[in-house]
Amino acid sequence: MDNLKSPENEETSGLPSLLIRDAHIWTENHTIRGSILIDHGRIQKIARRIAERADEEILARRLVALPGLVDAHVHLRDMRLSYKEDFTTGTAAAAAGGFTTVLDMPNTLPPTDSVQRLRLKARRASQKILVNVGFHTAAVGDRWTAKAMGAAGAFSMKLYLPKPIAPLTVGDDRAVAEVLKAAKEASLPVTVHAEDAAQAKTTREIRTFKELVASRSGNAETSAVNRILRLQKKVDCQIHFCHLTLPSSVSAIGNSLSGRVSSEVTPHHTLLSKDSVEKLRWKAWMVPPLRPEQVKNSLFRKMASGNATIIATDHAPHTIKEKRQPPHKSPPGIPGLETAMPLMLTMVNKGKLSLRRLVSLLSTNPAKLFSLSSKGRLEKGAEGDMILVDMKKRGKIDPNKFFSKAHYSPFEGWKTQGAIHATIVNGSIVYRNEEITGKPGGGKVLRNGSGG
Ligand code: NCD
Ligand code: ZN
Repeated sequence: MDNLKSPENEETSGLPSLLIRDAHIWTENHTIRGSILIDHGRIQKIARRIAERADEEILARRLVALPGLVDAHVHLRDMRLSYKEDFTTGTAAAAAGGFTTVLDMPNTLPPTDSVQRLRLKARRASQKILVNVGFHTAAVGDRWTAKAMGAAGAFSMKLYLPKPIAPLTVGDDRAVAEVLKAAKEASLPVTVHAEDAAQAKTTREIRTFKELVASRSGNAETSAVNRILRLQKKVDCQIHFCHLTLPSSVSAIGNSLSGRVSSEVTPHHTLLSKDSVEKLRWKAWMVPPLRPEQVKNSLFRKMASGNATIIATDHAPHTIKEKRQPPHKSPPGIPGLETAMPLMLTMVNKGKLSLRRLVSLLSTNPAKLFSLSSKGRLEKGAEGDMILVDMKKRGKIDPNKFFSKAHYSPFEGWKTQGAIHATIVNGSIVYRNEEITGKPGGGKVLRNGSGG
């Protein structure tokens, strides 16, 4: 292998080695003190003491080394939506938030709904990304297209029940069953936005954000979840339920990694209630919308006690100008990549969530769920994707400092304890001390099925 002179080989053999000295290293369920040597993009050694020298070293005495975080649900936009976010700003936000791998959603312009468009997106991304990126594609009922997208490395087909992405036009049982069957044949999971369209309407009569939120009730989620679970039983395909807002949905689905259904919750639905909408209006407008205080508290407890499979951010950036329009015109969505980890580390420091649970929800479980077999753990041979966390560092959420183009957040002003000190992707430091140190193109485009 060594004498193969392909450009890829030259690239990896040219990578500087990195030694993390004297950190608190996260093993399966506790930390040990030691050092980590990364070379050729992979973890070569973890030991109490490492005598070797490396091209770069970080003395990490007060830092906790965790496996790089994996966000299975982000909207990086780019292409004709680059004014909202692009591959570089979106992945810079990911790096600053501790995410070394993100999976991008297909509701772009143009949408990711064919092999050609998936390839186009991947090509464009490969020049611009700072962390590793994989792609979800739009749900299609056509088996040939589904298979081709699966073979081209898609991570799932995304089914938007409230408003399907063309060419899928209807979300009735027959159309959904076709999607599930096509996904099964293509061995692709279906990621689903489970909110029934019939009850989720945005009309001109809606004058306030509070009314807008009230127009998308929890019942729309309950009926969609039940419907999809019923169809899943018939077809027996793999389904991942995105951004669930109700504890009852999480209970109905469970947290299984080996089973055929899995559940996702977001930081915003577990930390904010719809009371925020009155005060923050467009800043707290996303779909599915925020729920009542007790529902939010109980969703947090479900997550903290291990009933949800993963946390994802649903990072959904828009411009402030777009967001500030009247409610029926204001696009739903908030940026989440740079707030998720400081907010959740704060909950760990407050004793409301264990670090062990947090690592499974944000790293180990999403890696397993989306077949990224050499990610989500710190051990010899695994990818050199890792973060160094300062558990004590205090901060305040300041959207003006975001690397994302979306400089707003419903969490603005929240005090946090626990911060990302450094983010290491494929063995290179891409973020450290509040600065991006990586270069666009340093992240890898991931293909599902290639082991990740
Ligand atoms: C998403 C977006 O902006 O892409 N917004 C959101 O509030 N989650 C769109 C969507 O998921 O419907
Ligand atoms: Zn989304």
